[in-house]
Amino acid sequence: MRLFDSMKPQLVRALVVVGLAATGAVLLFYTVAYLLTPLFAWLSPTLNPTLYDLGFYGACPLQKYVSSDVTGLRTTAIKWDESCDNGYVLLTPSGDSVGAPGPTIIDSQGEVVWKAEGYQVTTNLKVQKYKGQDYLTFWSGKKWGSLGAGSYFMLDSSYRVAYEVKAVGENMFGDLHEFKITNDDTALLTVYHTVDADLSPLGKASSGWLTENTFQEIDIATGELLFEWRASEHVDLTEGYMWNPFGGYLRNSPFDYYHLNSMDKDSHGNYLISARHTHTITSLSPTGEIQWILGGRHNQFTDLSGGAALDFRWQHDARWWSEEEGILTLFDNQEGGVLNREGPYSKGMMLKLDVANRTVELLHEYISLQKTRAPSQGSVQYLPESNHMFVGWGHSPAFSEYSLNGTLLCEHHFGASWLHVWNRAVSYRSFKSTTWVGRPREPPSVKIEDQTLYVSWNGATEVVAWELQGAVTEADDYEFTALDVIDKEAFEESFELTDLWEYTRFRVAALDRTGQVLSHSEVVSYHYEGGWWRTIFAVLAWAVVFTICWHVYKRIWRWKHTGANGFKWKSYELRTRQIPK
Ligand SMILES: *[C@@H]1O[C@H](CO)[C@@H](O)[C@H](O)[C@H]1NC(C)=O
Ligand SMILES: *[C@@H]1O[C@H](CO)[C@@H](O)[C@H](O)[C@H]1NC(C)=O
Repeated sequence: MRLFDSMKPQLVRALVVVGLAATGAVLLFYTVAYLLTPLFAWLSPTLNPTLYDLGFYGACPLQKYVSSDVTGLRTTAIKWDESCDNGYVLLTPSGDSVGAPGPTIIDSQGEVVWKAEGYQVTTNLKVQKYKGQDYLTFWSGKKWGSLGAGSYFMLDSSYRVAYEVKAVGENMFGDLHEFKITNDDTALLTVYHTVDADLSPLGKASSGWLTENTFQEIDIATGELLFEWRASEHVDLTEGYMWNPFGGYLRNSPFDYYHLNSMDKDSHGNYLISARHTHTITSLSPTGEIQWILGGRHNQFTDLSGGAALDFRWQHDARWWSEEEGILTLFDNQEGGVLNREGPYSKGMMLKLDVANRTVELLHEYISLQKTRAPSQGSVQYLPESNHMFVGWGHSPAFSEYSLNGTLLCEHHFGASWLHVWNRAVSYRSFKSTTWVGRPREPPSVKIEDQTLYVSWNGATEVVAWELQGAVTEADDYEFTALDVIDKEAFEESFELTDLWEYTRFRVAALDRTGQVLSHSEVVSYHYEGGWWRTIFAVLAWAVVFTICWHVYKRIWRWKHTGANGFKWKSYELRTRQIPK
């Protein structure tokens, strides 16, 4: 009581004001979020991507389902062209706003096709061929800053782990940046490990710590190490551009001068490698000798495009587009974090090299609609079926598709682009696959909620329609009858069960393009309890409403025609009082 007595009126007033302000803020938030935003979006569909990018739907809008526990992305198309309508997009969303992270496949319209939860952090989801067969490959493990320690998974078309590939050696762990299956059915993978090193050439401690950038070539079938290359044995410490005044003094904060992020192997057994911190793309002989260097402090190429071809900085994902013609593609970040900014925006690039004459020429550039900046990560992929280029914007939650000449055709966002600097949603690389076929081992998943049956089949790529089937209880060996068919458009579809009270068991058949059944869901027992008691309840409810209305009507009628006010409480009171005692 004392507390309340001593409370000053001002304090009470202040608390009331704060309380009102907080309530006002909450009301304003909900009004904007649930009333104004959908209203704007409805009034102007063209405004929707802008609202999305501003974060009105959240930093990374997500979607929940009834029949599945996975959480899907809700993407938005900010540019769309029919010619992009082929293939699946492969992402590894991670970041503070993506909910449960995990490798994700979405279709060209942005609908989730497959999502796996339960792996650790994943990167680099891709379809790669091994011994002539498609595998879904990705890295999974622990991530520290931009490095990782884990292993590489290869899933077959049933999403079973067919191979788990690991780095070879003591304290050598597969890093997140690269896992490339070569035409020789071997795997190239990155390993970042800490070694002690003399960093005095960098003006740092002579007994310092270095991130050694190693890549290994592994025989996938046996796990045997075939080849290993260590950057520090070939590349001088002073070739880096990374400015990190604190790196290299402590074992748990080593200095990363090279940052190897992609390797590829050509038909002659040479390796093409990309190092972000030296701005170099380097060709190595099959025994690891440097053959030539493109970009960086020791660039060997003359730029025939007046500087535009050698303009890349902090790049990723260098690949031969045509080995014979000397054409390669890469993702040019132009930025290595806040301390290392160069150009105004990131871009994909296609370069033509004349290795014999040491010349380079810029053929095409791939720039996003909003001139996206990606301070880290990113990828460029050639799509042979459509002759398009596909660019993943790494740190920025976006992917784009282009004509070969750089004309932007389509762009999707899977997070609010205005918030990307806060690391809310990223995908290390983004790829497109037109060949992936998923046939999950588990049957389609069904769940009934509120008289509606929901169905989904995580990972299945061949379902074109769902058929609802029902059976009547009494029969022991019940037979199913087809009740309804709907097209599969989204990850999850649903059937209303309201009018199907005579059926007590349901299942759903997944139909392919030709109408063949791919699989049946499990059978769910359910009886629409609407049957008789719901009808009786409804009749009773209507009877009550009718009686009330009838009485009201009668009284009004009497009051109008006889003047007897049967409406007022008073007359009731008077009447009750007049009852003789
Ligand atoms: C490039 O080298 C080839 C021989 O490899 C030569 O025939 C050609 O003239 C050179 N081109 C230029 C532009 O120097
Ligand atoms: C780029 O290629 C597309 C399709 O091949 C074509 O329609 C377009 O006109 C080209 N644009 C330029 C600038 O050459």
